[in-house]
Amino acid sequence: MAETRDTITIVDNRTGKQIELPIRHGTEGPGAVEIGAFTKAFGLFALDPGFVSTASCESKITYIDGEEGVLLYRGYPIEQLAEKSSYTEVCYLLLNGELPTREQLGEFTHTIRHHTMLHEQMGRFFQGFRRDAHPMAILVGCVGALSAFYHDHLDIHDPHDRMITAHRLIAKMPTLAAACYKYSIGQPIVYPDNRLDYAANFLRMMFSVPCEDYQVDPVQSRALDVIFTLHADHEQNASASTVRLAGSSLANPYACISAGISALWGPAHGGANEAVLRMLAEIGRAERIPEFVERAKSKTDPFRLMGFGHRVYKNFDPRAKIIRGMCHEVLRQLHHSDPLFDIATKLEEVALHDDYFIEKKLYPNVDFYSGIILKAIGIPVNMFTVIFAMARTVGWIAQWIEMIAEPGQKIGRPRQLYAGHPAREYIPVERRG
Ligand code: ACO
Repeated sequence: MAETRDTITIVDNRTGKQIELPIRHGTEGPGAVEIGAFTKAFGLFALDPGFVSTASCESKITYIDGEEGVLLYRGYPIEQLAEKSSYTEVCYLLLNGELPTREQLGEFTHTIRHHTMLHEQMGRFFQGFRRDAHPMAILVGCVGALSAFYHDHLDIHDPHDRMITAHRLIAKMPTLAAACYKYSIGQPIVYPDNRLDYAANFLRMMFSVPCEDYQVDPVQSRALDVIFTLHADHEQNASASTVRLAGSSLANPYACISAGISALWGPAHGGANEAVLRMLAEIGRAERIPEFVERAKSKTDPFRLMGFGHRVYKNFDPRAKIIRGMCHEVLRQLHHSDPLFDIATKLEEVALHDDYFIEKKLYPNVDFYSGIILKAIGIPVNMFTVIFAMARTVGWIAQWIEMIAEPGQKIGRPRQLYAGHPAREYIPVERRG
């Protein structure tokens, strides 16, 4: 539990009444005022639309310093994890709090590889969707449906059951994600190959067909593995908060992750990587960049530069830095030139020198470049958010486990400032005019 040392005094200027509220200090970053006694003392709620100033929980998983561009998973900088770790190792770290020993990693890798199969009946769910369904629509439904298959380990109060669920979800997401794609293009669903590592297995399930040999390209598989690591967790963002809120009612974890996937889908969150590519394609030529930058700045135009800005990072997104460098390298190694990458780098340059973007501290976020790498690998645009969901599943489930395991865990129940009609008498229909 975070330490309580200081207090802050709140005075009600209407009555002179004052109370002292405890300030809790974490291990990094700003502390937080415990405002539980505030409503009791003053009969007022705290109003904070978008939760810009509200810490919704205490967490030991991920830390972000938005001013300094720092992202830590369990204390380890994202740059070091992206360079030295595999995604599977990062999953172990997020779930267990420590980097694994060689034996622990071997055992964990074995467990994840041996939970990759879907129940055969799951295949029938796909048949129910239209061929042109968005793969995110299929994923939301299928992840929720997993709860119908795993009654054997659904005691959310049992730490062992919680961990089995975490392993199942992490292991089955690539199989489900690739199946969504295969269904949409009318190809047979490919079974996992447990000899392959996480990213390689996913690539094979996406791109192989039963009638031909398929060799996983190590450049593609390493690039994808790093993309997974960069997206693995991001503390209390909209989707993680959704998972926690759904889970706070003690709903089963598959339903909670499905809720998180829904929250991720929007273009202001995980849908941004898809939106970035569509925007770059719409821009089409470098000469049109100023026109789009002007539109993004206009108060009357709802258009925003997709892949720019972040609720927390106000200096740079450390993930964007890693991925930008990787994007150059992957395109070079794959001998792939993409005019959209040139437009993206020029757009970044123009925006970073524009007073509007400088003043509002708007920088490229991770999704500005991830789409270009995914496209170079051959992943279709409508699968981008699905890949984000796959990678983030470990973060969601780690957040869910932390919440459920917390002593005195409560259902999430925000209050509101009611601004509707005051109480009034019912009017019978014949007297309404
Ligand atoms: N283009 C143009 N203007 C922008 C942009 C943008 N991408 N982002 C923010 N602004 C402007 C806003 O219009 C606002 O201007 P105002 O002060 O004149 O009203 C100001 O910058 C602050 O923006 P907010 O929307 O208040 O910032 P918030 O923290 O709520 O939003 C968000 C963050 C949603 C990411 C926003 O920057 C955005 O919509 N970006 C584009 C979508 C995107 O890339 N999302 C991915 C997020 S990262 C992720 O999920 C992995």
